Amino acid sequence: MRFVQLSDLHIGGLFKQDAFDIMVNEINDELKPDVIIISGDLTDDGLIFQFEQARSEIKKLKCNNLIIFPGNHDYRHTGYLLFKKFFPIAGSDGPKVYEYKNEDNNYQTVVLTTIGTAIPDRDEGEVGHRQNLLLNNILKKYDNNYQHNNDNRQIYKIVAMHHHLIAIPDTGYTNVVGISDAGDVLRTCLKNNVDLVICGHKHRPWLWNLGTMKIAYAGTACSWRYRGVFEDTYNIIDIREDNKIDIDIKIVGGNRIPLSQVVNTYEPEDRNME
Ligand SMILES: [Fe+2]
Ligand SMILES: [Fe+2]
Repeated sequence: MRFVQLSDLHIGGLFKQDAFDIMVNEINDELKPDVIIISGDLTDDGLIFQFEQARSEIKKLKCNNLIIFPGNHDYRHTGYLLFKKFFPIAGSDGPKVYEYKNEDNNYQTVVLTTIGTAIPDRDEGEVGHRQNLLLNNILKKYDNNYQHNNDNRQIYKIVAMHHHLIAIPDTGYTNVVGISDAGDVLRTCLKNNVDLVICGHKHRPWLWNLGTMKIAYAGTACSWRYRGVFEDTYNIIDIREDNKIDIDIKIVGGNRIPLSQVVNTYEPEDRNME
């Protein structure tokens, strides 16, 4: 099953229309994903004309399963009131569950839960005690249901959020860019055997392996707000038939490489040290 994660379009002043259009062609004509996730910061300032443009641009993507949730930029200028209006299918301030079954592969099941981390007119993110409890209940229910049915099929669990679950390089103070209750949410994810967490927010493509759980961060798909990787990028997540996973970073109009390569070739200690 193929998931494509686009993040941080930032439609507004620093949006790159040409990059967006090239990406749409790549996705529609070549990648043909089962699911597209747009993980927040669709707009630069949460303004009504930016939401209008975001809605019409996103319509260019051909995919039956579109998952959208907001970022901190979408909630600026009371954009949180507009977000639901323009994207009524979206998850916003609570957990929302999506379940996908691959009938060709013994009903391989992927459960993706989005959680809201954006707060109106604030840059920092939070999941919140109650939402974390709801997330725990959702994840636990899936394990219990499958055990109850004596079903040996693995389910693949993904949690998606805009802000960072844990810190990554080049993004500043963790208490501003990450979720304020990261410890609680991390515990919920690990306790419930989440396989993959995906985040956006600071436009720094990255990947951590935390035991059996991976945490993958997407860059900006089509804006000038680069950080660390100075290209328009998005992530391709292929869940193979044996539930093994390949996560690649795709440069818009360019190469596709394993996301781990971005981490493995990172050598900031070379800078200014001689
Ligand atoms: Fe962003
Ligand atoms: Fe953000």
